[in-house]
Formats: sequence, structure tokens, C-alpha cells
Amino acid sequence: MQASLYLDTKTLAWPSRGHTSTHHIFRPTPTVRLRPLPPVSAVATSPPPLTRQKAHSLPPEKVELFKSLEGWASQTILPFLKPVDECWQPSAFLPDPSLPKEEFLDRVRALRDRTDGLPDEYFVVLVGDMITEEALPTYQSMINGLDGVRDETGASSSPWAKWTRAWTAEENRHGDLLKTYLYLSGRVDMFKIEKTIQNLIGAGMEPGTENNPYLGFVYTSFQERATFISHGNTARLAKDRGDPVLARICGTIASDERRHEFAYSKIVEKLLEVDPTGAMVAIADMMRKKITMPAHLMYDGEDPKLFEHFAAVAQRLGVYTAQDYADILEFLIGRWRLEKVEGMTGEGKRAQDFVCGLAPRIRRLEERADKRARKMEPHGVKFSWIYNKEVVL
Ligand SMILES: [Fe+2]
Ligand SMILES: [Fe+2]
Repeated sequence: MQASLYLDTKTLAWPSRGHTSTHHIFRPTPTVRLRPLPPVSAVATSPPPLTRQKAHSLPPEKVELFKSLEGWASQTILPFLKPVDECWQPSAFLPDPSLPKEEFLDRVRALRDRTDGLPDEYFVVLVGDMITEEALPTYQSMINGLDGVRDETGASSSPWAKWTRAWTAEENRHGDLLKTYLYLSGRVDMFKIEKTIQNLIGAGMEPGTENNPYLGFVYTSFQERATFISHGNTARLAKDRGDPVLARICGTIASDERRHEFAYSKIVEKLLEVDPTGAMVAIADMMRKKITMPAHLMYDGEDPKLFEHFAAVAQRLGVYTAQDYADILEFLIGRWRLEKVEGMTGEGKRAQDFVCGLAPRIRRLEERADKRARKMEPHGVKFSWIYNKEVVL
């Protein structure tokens, strides 16, 4: 999972009633004030924790709607899971400890030789991605907090619960594999990384999903695509720098994320079909809040701006950028055919106008932020994860 955006001091607002253009006339409330760009080159950073957390915003009749969709979920969503026997496991990508000792050590040596060619900043990004995966207990808790779809018993036979457990089990391999690979590389400070993971799981996350599965599934659709993109980019960079095994690892994880993205975005597609206004308002709501990245509360005990700095490096290496954020939004608008959705109330139509006009606005703000960032002097930031070596932002 990945960064949201500080863009500008501009205010994004909902279009006025019945007004289809995205400029000039806005209702005064509700509004989102985008915060000033931080003094780093990237615009992909974490927002501050939400100050007012809303909970259980799903009305009771809509809980029933999710109950009524169980048959559909069994038929349409569960098939996106892979049977365990057909799944890859982390050990398949790692030196085999059952080999004779010397052979095993040769494999470890080869792994270290391959990772020698990767720059420190690459490790910062890969560690940040791995830590994000490692906070999986938080994500399972978040999904199990969603009304109407949570796993009520811990082993519930509802398709929603089955999906969440099996999704978690699939995701669990991502952090395991990346963490072991990074450990064997010898390039990173495992103690500091482990401390960051413990802090992060302890801190949780604030995605603004309000125990509401409409919001929750919009969030996960966006997030799965964000992780698909970022793991795909770490794969590409590993390949370019001479580690084809790591490239295969990141690529394999990316393809899991893609499958998950398909499943979550199918759920939103279904919600748009059965409740177009509710679904559209939920999409607008999440976009108005901005998609907060799951690891935005990460802390290594040393750098209070750790997430911001990690996101800045990811932006600079092109692993996950503000451009990607706008691309994901545009992609989802296309996949869900949001411009074509009909049969909505006025509230739904206003939400539609807002969402469909948002990507170009984000891009404009992003271009301006980028210009300003280019004028700033590059500066170095030390990361405890790589033994306090400095990376230029
Ligand atoms: Fe993952
Ligand atoms: Fe995922």
C-alpha cells in the first residue's frame, strides 16, 4: 500500500448545485484546504493526522444492502483470490536453507553481489514499501471495522469476511519476502526498521473511512493500484541496476496488488450500479479528503518527518509520484465510467462534477508545486534505515 498530496494553498470545493463546470462558482462548504507544499522536492507526502474522526457513517439500511450482495460477492469477488496451492511463497525467491551450508552461503553471497549495484536511495524506498506492507494488522483491522462486511466471529463464512481473511493472507507474504531479502542484503539497519514497524503498527492509520464500506472500498481500490504502481517501479529499477531476482520479487508482488485492485474496484463498480448516488458521493468524499497513505504515521524514533522524507525519495526516484496520484484518479474515473453514471440525485451529480473535474486541477497544482520545488536547493536527509547515510532530496 503508499503517499497523498500536499499541493497548494488552493481550496478545492464542491461545485455549486446544478453547476457542471469545475471553476469559478463553488459552494462555500464543505471545502478542503490543501496545505502548503513542504520544503522538499516532492509533493507526495503525508497529511497531518485527521483532527476529527467520524465513525459509523453507514446508515442501517445500507448495511442490509451489503448483506443482499453476499451472493454476488461469492460469485464475483472470491474468484479473485488464488488457491493457496497455486500461490507463490516467499521461500521460493530466497536462498534455500536446506542446501548444504556452503551452497547456501554462496546463494547469500550472490544475493549480496546483486544488491551491491543498488543505490542507497533505492533501499530507502524499498524499506519504506516493505514497512508499509508490514503494517498489515492495521489494514485488516481497518477492513474489519467496516460495517456490513466485517468478520463478525473471526472465522465467519460470509464472503466479505472470507475475502478479507484470504486477502490478508496473500498480503502477508509481501512484507515477509521483502523483509527477508532486505535482511540478507546487509544494506539496511534491521533494528531501526523493526522499530519503525513496531511504532507504525502501534500508531495505526487514519484513512477517514468512517467504518463505511463505501468509503473503505474506494480507499482500497485506490491503494491497491498505488501499490501496484510502486512495486512495479521498484521492479523496473532493480532490473536496470542488475538485480533480476529482486525485480522478479517486486514484479510478483505488483501482480498480486493488481489482482486485489481488480477485486476492490469491482465492488465499487457494483455499488455504482445498485446505489449510484451513494457510491458517487463516497468517491467524492474520499477524494476530497485525499487518499491518505497507509504508512503516514511511520516513525523510527528519530526523524519526525520520516514519512515525508521517504515519500520525497519515492517521488524523486519515480517510484510513486504526485503524477501517479492524478493518474490513478483518472484511471479509476475511466474504469468506473464515472462521467457516464446516470440516475443520481442532485447530490450525486454534484459529487460527479467534483470527481470528474478533479484530475486536471490536481495536475495544475502539481505543476506549480514542481516548478517551485525545482528552484529549491537540493538538501540531504539522513535515514536511520541505511545507517544514517544521507540521501539527497
Ligand atoms: Fe501488498
Ligand atoms: Fe495489496
